[in-house]
Amino acid sequence: MAAALYDPEEGYYARPAGQVGRAGDFFTSVSVGPLFGRLLAECVMEWYREAGKPPRWRLVELGANDGTLAMDLHAALKEMVGGGSGLEHVVIEPLPQLAAALREKCGGFLRVEDSSGPLAEDPLPSFVLGNEVLDALPFHVIESNGQAWEEMGVSLEGDAFAWAGIGPAPTGLVEGIPVFPAGYRTEVRDNFPEFLAPLVGAMASGRMLWIDYGFPRDDYYHESRTKGTLRTFSQHRAAEDPLQSPGEIDITAHVDFTAVEEAIEALGGKVTLFERQGRFLTHCARPWLMSMDGRTDAEAMKAVRAFQTLTHPGQLGASFHMMIAEWDH
Ligand SMILES: C[S@@+](CC[C@H](N)C(=O)[O-])C[C@H]1O[C@@H](n2cnc3c(N)ncnc32)[C@H](O)[C@@H]1O
Repeated sequence: MAAALYDPEEGYYARPAGQVGRAGDFFTSVSVGPLFGRLLAECVMEWYREAGKPPRWRLVELGANDGTLAMDLHAALKEMVGGGSGLEHVVIEPLPQLAAALREKCGGFLRVEDSSGPLAEDPLPSFVLGNEVLDALPFHVIESNGQAWEEMGVSLEGDAFAWAGIGPAPTGLVEGIPVFPAGYRTEVRDNFPEFLAPLVGAMASGRMLWIDYGFPRDDYYHESRTKGTLRTFSQHRAAEDPLQSPGEIDITAHVDFTAVEEAIEALGGKVTLFERQGRFLTHCARPWLMSMDGRTDAEAMKAVRAFQTLTHPGQLGASFHMMIAEWDH
């Protein structure tokens, strides 16, 4: 999965963006319009005020892709805090093509780094966020033989890839996951600690916000979910076979938010909120809703429709969750 998505030459994301949006392979909340960034900016401001308006602070985004959310956040924050607030807006993008495209498009206001290493040399109070990035982190596929979990690998048969059992899954990988009847297949990630640790190292203190589709562990590894949550996306069509056209399709799986919480706690953080996107954004939206009071113009109506898409349980409001964690160090 790591190679299929992130090989610097042939990986799906190793091209200068174009994966997200109408002309791409899938939509995200960012595709709904600038309101998502505006509401997240309210959430950033809440932290900034609670943190005592630090003279120098950072907003760090992961998985920025084509920079749309970064631009929406920038526009909203400029209005809210104005220039000269001591804000450094950073995107961490390890893929050189995406990083170069981001520098070209947003270089005027955005610092683009390929890792958080340079930030760790000057840790600042920080707000770190990512929309649909945890689901894009590579995972292991495991299958039950009725007694234990076996790890699945990929073999080359002729000129086609095929699934192949590669032996018992390491105990550490499947700890806490009950063994289901034979044939139950699912996914598991063990890379949240290594993904989060460098980000924590670059914060003097602060808050993280992770937005994604997923469940707490009990719900994720549920007896009814016999085929797991692995999906591929290509031209807005979902499918389930990642071995077809690797490098040309997106591969994803839901997020085990219990695993994220465990990683956060092991890194000295504390989860303070885990909530559906709809409820959370409705909370963030108060100032925006007040600013909309009495407006009936076309632009306002468009924004109201965007708000409904982001928050209605039948649309994006219930399938996405927000997890917030705090670091006081
Ligand atoms: C599904 S896209 C998210 C797009 C965007 N955030 C949005 O909501 O429209 C996932 C992004 O995560 C990025 N990504 C994956 N692993 C990453 C990592 N370790 N650090 C930073 N970005 C990563 C990918 O390059 C890709 O651009």
